[in-house]
Amino acid sequence: MATTWNPASWRAFPILQVPDYPDATHLASTESELASYPPLVFVGEAQRLKSALGRVAAGRAFLLQGGDCAESFAEFSPNNIRDTFRVLLQMAVVLTFGGGVPIVKVGRLAGQFAKPRSSSVETQGDIELPSYRGDIINGIDFSKTSRVPDPDRLLKAYNQAASTLNLLRAFAQGGFANLDEIHRWTLSFISNSPQGERFEELAVRIDESLRFMRACGVTPESTQQLRETDFYTSHESLLLGYEQAMTRQDTITDDKGWYSTSAHMVWIGDRTRQPDGAHVEYMRGIRNPIGMKCGPSLDPDELIHLIDILNPHNDPGRLTLICRMGADKAEEYLPPLIRAVEREGRTVVWSCDPMHGNTITSSTGYKTRPVDRILSEVRTFFDVHRAEGTYAGGVHFEMTGQDVTECIGGAQEISETALADRYHTHCDPRLNASQSLELAFLISDILKVHRKEATIPAMAVAS
Ligand code: PEP
Ligand code: CO
Repeated sequence: MATTWNPASWRAFPILQVPDYPDATHLASTESELASYPPLVFVGEAQRLKSALGRVAAGRAFLLQGGDCAESFAEFSPNNIRDTFRVLLQMAVVLTFGGGVPIVKVGRLAGQFAKPRSSSVETQGDIELPSYRGDIINGIDFSKTSRVPDPDRLLKAYNQAASTLNLLRAFAQGGFANLDEIHRWTLSFISNSPQGERFEELAVRIDESLRFMRACGVTPESTQQLRETDFYTSHESLLLGYEQAMTRQDTITDDKGWYSTSAHMVWIGDRTRQPDGAHVEYMRGIRNPIGMKCGPSLDPDELIHLIDILNPHNDPGRLTLICRMGADKAEEYLPPLIRAVEREGRTVVWSCDPMHGNTITSSTGYKTRPVDRILSEVRTFFDVHRAEGTYAGGVHFEMTGQDVTECIGGAQEISETALADRYHTHCDPRLNASQSLELAFLISDILKVHRKEATIPAMAVAS
């Protein structure tokens, strides 16, 4: 590992998952153009998220991270952004009731474009083409021209991320997230479902509490926390040329450090977390809160080595370990990681991604995920942490506010044959709005039981 870091130092390291751009000069000029564009987020916001995640690490808050597997140019619309945002708000309300702690809300949004692939080629019939790597790199159409990596896509992705973030900020701070508006958050197509009805019951209870507080003189007009919410963005830091161009030195606060300004939080994927690789080199130098995916192949000693590199000062909130073992593997693979972290006295946020270890192919040929396996991994995650005496601090979902049919099961009982009805994802299958809310209720019930058992001492203390 080099001792001096700069935003380009990753270029001297071995790298995986790189697109094969045919025109290096075009790529370089596009990256310099991007480097002259305004940052998407402000350093102070990333620092604020890091503090909030520090509270999660201490058991005083809970992390909810969710959104698209891959944002796409085709699905870019104000309604999609609004619907994902409002399902996340609904999930956060449900989790607040269960956990009794503040929920830190982080979207996989406004920049989640680049995708790692298991294979660099895709074969259909007797035609083999480069794999689709996300709209920021190439096109999803199975044609030779569409699969050629195109640098102009970097600028289009930046612009889409900028307008998505603009709308999210407006929603979070401009009145839509006001708790007085809670009845409007329910999407029409789930209002008559059991989840919709259960949410409505919560909304009525919140209304009553707000009325009581109003009578005491506490109103959304007078109290920012009731009127606005903090909402943060995140994505996988995969396409390092783009990330480098968005890496800026803080000029406003006293920090003077380098930050990725492409999102508040970025994470390293399970396929690119080699300790001597380019992605880890890039991530170690930025000061944002970062995540790292932990799959079954991660050895406990290697995890500690990676923590040494990524969080040498044991800074609370800096590092979130996003575990994605698979429902049938979590019980075996999670405890050794937790024990190593505890033994070494490292402070991390433990989060559970129950999506990426539970992908199967349906008999009808679709990549899908059974809701019961997703839930089973979440349950195991909480059980293991309870047994180890550690804090299960968050969840990470691939979900959308749309009424898609991509994951099977759940209260709607989406069948394998129904997958064909509304299967829109550009990459992995997402929970739809109703399944997302259903899972939030189930997690909320787990949190409630844990809180009652008081196995998490700090849980009762809201920040
Ligand atoms: C993802 O989060 O979309 C992803 C590719 O995850 P992982 O790196 O855990 O496979
Ligand atoms: Co995914």
